[in-house]
Amino acid sequence: MPATTLKLNNGQQIPALGLGCWMSKPVEGDNPETYEMVVQALKTGYRHLDTAAGYGNEKAVGRAVRDSDIPRSEIFVTTKLGFDGHDDVEGHFKKSFDALDIEYIDLFLMHWPQAKKGDDWVPKDQSPTFAETWKEMEKLVKGGKCRSIGVSNFSVENLELLLKSADIVPAVNQVEANIYHPQASLHKYCAEKNIHLTAYCPIGQPKPEVGSKVLKDEVLIGLGEKYGKPAAAVALSWLVQRGNWSAVPKSANPTRMAQNLEIFELEKADFEALSKVHEQPGKLMISCDYGSGDIMEKGEIFGWSLKDMGWEKLD
Ligand SMILES: NC(=O)c1ccc[n+]([C@@H]2O[C@H](COP(=O)([O-])OP(=O)(O)OC[C@H]3O[C@@H](n4cnc5c(N)ncnc54)[C@H](OP(=O)(O)O)[C@@H]3O)[C@@H](O)[C@H]2O)c1
Repeated sequence: MPATTLKLNNGQQIPALGLGCWMSKPVEGDNPETYEMVVQALKTGYRHLDTAAGYGNEKAVGRAVRDSDIPRSEIFVTTKLGFDGHDDVEGHFKKSFDALDIEYIDLFLMHWPQAKKGDDWVPKDQSPTFAETWKEMEKLVKGGKCRSIGVSNFSVENLELLLKSADIVPAVNQVEANIYHPQASLHKYCAEKNIHLTAYCPIGQPKPEVGSKVLKDEVLIGLGEKYGKPAAAVALSWLVQRGNWSAVPKSANPTRMAQNLEIFELEKADFEALSKVHEQPGKLMISCDYGSGDIMEKGEIFGWSLKDMGWEKLD
């Protein structure tokens, strides 16, 4: 069986499978959908929850955690600093901390390397740079309210820049990863630097009725039939079996939510076959819909060029 928990570089344990809490759009208010989803997930056995200030649902996630009879120490909760939080990290951490209201935050991620001031994206070389933001995040782990800090959407290039001035090596980098976007260079680099990777869009962000390209992959479907498992469970098992990876699929549907927890060990040849499917023409791709069109075609995302992001070449 692939590991069900993994150790971060500071000794903290992270469950390999978590529940993504992005509800396709930011949400407001009491947010019963998120609350019900998290209550159901905790009943189903999830012990790792992934939210963000930008998802608008930290309150509902926190309430579900508090209402469960599971000891706080058994649940791992990640939240993230939004674009608008880079020049007031302490203030924005406090907002997330208060909204969640769960004694401490297990992992606080810089959601994106980009900062935003008002309506304007801050260019990469201007303050607050992500290195400056990171310096502020480093202060958070001293107070006991935050166990680990990390980043998200960081490429090898940007991690290299960050590590030049960092005192704390990020515990985690959360990025899109799945069989059509395996992030080979990042996988190698993060293993060398002892940075854990968490995969978002791990099943390619299927849409109702349409599904996802990832889940329609013939090799994946064939292996699902061979093992008698849903394609999503095969895709998630592959990710976790790579080692150094956790994954946070989102499902509000109790059946799919349970299926996604069914990770199992793939035979070596099957694991290797899945590791190669992205090499087939047209299969290497970004699946995440960032709400701004085809970013590879536009050459930019959230105000930065793909070069700034280190995303020019997918692997
Ligand atoms: N750091 C970042 O910048 C970033 C970016 C994107 C996402 N994330 C995080 O990663 C999480 C996961 O990513 P995501 O939600 O975009 O994509 P995803 O987990 O790949 O896909 C979610 C979609 O798949 C459906 N689904 C779930 N399990 C399924 C299954 N077994 N079979 C078929 N369909 C299934 C869900 O619908 P149902 O709910 O109806 O099952 C939902 O529409 C997010 O929720 C968020 O926490 C982080």
